[in-house]
Amino acid sequence: MAPLGPLSSLLLLHARSPLRHAGCCCSSLRGKSTGPDLQERQRQHMARGLPKQKPISGVKQVVVVASGKGGVGKSTTAVNLALGLMANNPSKSVGLLDADIHGPSIPKLMNLKGNPDLTETNRMVPLTNYGIPCMSMGFLVDEEAPIVWRGLMVMSALEKLLRQVDWGTLDYLVVDMPPGTGDVQLSISQNIPVTGAVIVSTPQDIALLDARRGAEMFRKVNVPVLGLVQNMSVFQCPNCQHQTHIFGSDGARKLADTLGVHFLGDIPLHLNIREMSDRGQPVVISSPDSPEAEAYRKLAAAVLLRIQEVSV
Ligand SMILES: Nc1ncnc2c1ncn2[C@@H]1O[C@H](COP(=O)(O)OP(=O)(O)O)[C@@H](O)[C@H]1O
Ligand SMILES: [Mg+2]
Repeated sequence: MAPLGPLSSLLLLHARSPLRHAGCCCSSLRGKSTGPDLQERQRQHMARGLPKQKPISGVKQVVVVASGKGGVGKSTTAVNLALGLMANNPSKSVGLLDADIHGPSIPKLMNLKGNPDLTETNRMVPLTNYGIPCMSMGFLVDEEAPIVWRGLMVMSALEKLLRQVDWGTLDYLVVDMPPGTGDVQLSISQNIPVTGAVIVSTPQDIALLDARRGAEMFRKVNVPVLGLVQNMSVFQCPNCQHQTHIFGSDGARKLADTLGVHFLGDIPLHLNIREMSDRGQPVVISSPDSPEAEAYRKLAAAVLLRIQEVSV
């Protein structure tokens, strides 16, 4: 396997991409008999006008972590959820995919740097830390370079991240989504079978409105909403442990009720979470005995329960 240069890796992948050539293969089929079954399937497919969902090779369940808004703690939640799933059951393999093309944060949160190796079949090998294989746009472009890409380039990058990563086998792939309800969210929901979405919200009204939008979008594209996590719900003073509900105590619970979705848990606003995240040492790993880590493990257990419910 050869290491990749930063941007060249993406261009190289684009050039070698089997997906890029997918269109050409059809032309080689012309003139051959495609059979009534295939034609019927194609007809049904075209009639629906949607891209065909194709599982990510080797991945059993995909859980997306989303919200309509930035800065509510999606990435922090995604990282600690992945680690929590593994902490609760170390026999399970869990991966992390950073789908935030413009603002990737998994490299920093997971303390990972470098360019992925390529397998012989030109698939990228995820970088691994704390037992979690990770893939992010941040591994492919310079850390300092602003990622100012137009829609098509974003879609092309996303396609590489979805289709050209060698995950091996994974029980769960946790996907850290970009903020909002745009092309990336739609593209993921339409191209791969998503087991369910975890919506992150802070208890502020405005964030709740965005969370509502996020939850409704997933419903429209038939992705089960696993539930809502209330992040930064209560401030726990690191000195005296006094708890203050800064934004109100049960906004997300009420929203979950209103939307008819499950409430998955509360994550406290805690200095330790922020500081450890900034150092690339997520609390589930760095402070496993803390109440914060316990909150994430509880969240992981609640998510798993919902995965089992929606998978039957
Ligand atoms: N529960 C929490 N307690 C303290 N800080 C948090 C918590 N959740 C997230 N943060 C901090 O908030 C900021 C935004 O979090 P991030 O996960 O990057 O949000 P998003 O992915 O939604 O943009 C980061 O500095 C992170 O460390
Ligand atoms: Mg983020």
